Amino acid sequence: MEKEKFYITTPIYYPSDKLHIGHSYCTVATDTMARYKRIRGYDVMFLTGSDEHGQKIERIAKSQNVTPKQYVDKIVDWIKELWELMDISYDRYIRTTDEKHVKGVQKIFKKLYDNGDIYKSSYEGWYCTPCETFYTERQLVDGKCPDCGREVEKLKEESYFFKLSKYQERLIKHIEENVEFIQPSSRKNEMINNFLKPGLEDLCVSRTSFKWGIPVEFDKGHIVYVWIDALSNYITALGYGSEDERDFKKYWPADVHVVGKEIVRFHTIIWPAMLMALELPLPKKIFGHGWLIIDGGKMSKSKGNVVDPKELAERYGVDALRYFLLREIAFGQDGNFTNEALIQRINSDLANDLGNLLSRTVGMIEKYFNGKLPNEQKGNSFDTDVIKVAKETVEKTEEYMEKMLFSDAFAQIWVLIRRCNKYIDETCPWIIAKDEKRKDELANILYTLSESLRIVAVLISPGMPSTPNEIYKQLSIKDDNLKTWDSIKEFGKLAKDVKIEKALPVFPRIDIKKELEVLNKKAEKAQKESVCNNKGKDKEKANNFDESSFISIDDFAKVKIKTGEVIECEKLEGSDKLLVSKIKIGNDIKQIVSGIAKYYEPSQMIGKKVCVVVNLKPVKLRGVVSEGMILAASDDSGKLNVVTVDGDIGSGAEIK
Ligand code: ME8
Ligand code: MG
Repeated sequence: MEKEKFYITTPIYYPSDKLHIGHSYCTVATDTMARYKRIRGYDVMFLTGSDEHGQKIERIAKSQNVTPKQYVDKIVDWIKELWELMDISYDRYIRTTDEKHVKGVQKIFKKLYDNGDIYKSSYEGWYCTPCETFYTERQLVDGKCPDCGREVEKLKEESYFFKLSKYQERLIKHIEENVEFIQPSSRKNEMINNFLKPGLEDLCVSRTSFKWGIPVEFDKGHIVYVWIDALSNYITALGYGSEDERDFKKYWPADVHVVGKEIVRFHTIIWPAMLMALELPLPKKIFGHGWLIIDGGKMSKSKGNVVDPKELAERYGVDALRYFLLREIAFGQDGNFTNEALIQRINSDLANDLGNLLSRTVGMIEKYFNGKLPNEQKGNSFDTDVIKVAKETVEKTEEYMEKMLFSDAFAQIWVLIRRCNKYIDETCPWIIAKDEKRKDELANILYTLSESLRIVAVLISPGMPSTPNEIYKQLSIKDDNLKTWDSIKEFGKLAKDVKIEKALPVFPRIDIKKELEVLNKKAEKAQKESVCNNKGKDKEKANNFDESSFISIDDFAKVKIKTGEVIECEKLEGSDKLLVSKIKIGNDIKQIVSGIAKYYEPSQMIGKKVCVVVNLKPVKLRGVVSEGMILAASDDSGKLNVVTVDGDIGSGAEIK
């Protein structure tokens, strides 16, 4: 019988020398789904890649005196190494600089133009270079980019436009009729109410002010701009528009595009409209996952608070890191990343629950049976429940995995693991072991545990690709038929005479206090080094100054700082670092969350005249809105003092 196909994709990533743990999050989740479908017997096509064009890349490459292609080549090698390290089992890697993609996009552009879906006009709008996005006047927030808060430039140029507005009604209809199309469903309402219902504007799809992109064949000087280039990857990777469209015919439409929440709009509005215009079927599902947050902000390259996935994987192991990402955060929601939470998960779920179950089982088979169970076994009254939980766990894990609810799936697998640990406590094998006549009962207990561990190994394998091999090895499971998904639907497939091979614990416990000390020291050192390096660079560049680090007086003037008086202050519940202050600034009162709780008691803050940055984009920290920043001075010794103003001046005075 021919296998059913399953086509799954990640977004194509912007090449950056540091992909962070946030990117790995998306890729690990997608990989988990791809592996799950493979083990369920599907013919899987898992696509990932990189989005390599654009003005930003052109500028960075120029500043480094290399060509854009040289610049992206190096980074793509780096990304591929990262995916190899993270055990990402992609089937295909597309680069938007691949000739096949370039040709495909040119064909797509021409076809859309010939069909009248693309027309020429001129564009005037506000452009944010780091985000590579145009905004209309009303989309700006305080005149700045609504996404990253940075300066935007006004641009007017001749451009091609895609008739997005023409597809509005069809899109609404499609989204409303296909409940599975946008997941989780909260994102669906957001798309309909915030974007589709208010009305779509036609989309600028070409640029003339830079070169690094795919040229429009029939109008030299125009470069295909961002979305037609990037989104088309999902079909050009399958050969759409080339001589060989076999893969396209086999795998399209995609079963699921996994994307971060900020690009759901592009994937559920622009992409389907493009496909409608090309008369192609739409993807079956867009899954918009949430963000991995560090210290309250979306972790991103441009904010500098990245966490290096390579270092994390090397310190804790790839499977531990993957487990954490999948288990800690409900897929679809935002979640916090902290080293502390990661270590706690490793200690409690991996070392304690799973690791102990394996080492106790293997240890007892070694101790009581010299490493091999006899065939004569006798069941006990607790078996029925363990077998029932095992069966339920397989069924529920399937249900959750199909819905991409990875955290629920892993929580369920741990129900079985914990049930087994409880079974050890209930049956007390160390007591039975004292009675020679009860060997058959003892053998059965260890068999039940071994068979449950085999089932656990298969269940975790999509998310944790290397740990199952460790379990199989320790239980001498060699037959591949015992590693299939089908084989775990029945309890008792494992031969009774289990043999073991003792090994070191799979997940050693981490001394959390010591580990956090080490990490903090490392962070401090890295910070100092980067300061030293910069000093070194300054010397090096004495005659060749890095002017890019200068800001103009106008840049400085963008930061609005005012005096404020703290009128209320309290600790933020559940945090030992954060204080929430109400600050009177002239006639205004702002709420500000600041990381100063280690240095100030709330009562010490009240009445202080502080300096406040008042035009920062509001953010939520631990669910509490913060509308600015209190300035403070800190040094390497760990001191921190808030900045106050000399002499007598009222609140709301401007600081320049
Ligand atoms: O958007 N937590 O590329 P990109 C979770 N090239 N996910 C995160 C994250 C975080 N902290 N930071 C980034 C692009 N991501 C385009 C896509 S697709 C045709 C073009 C996710 O490198 C982000 O949500 O900025 C997105 O899904 C992916 O990484 C790529 O982001
Ligand atoms: Mg992005």
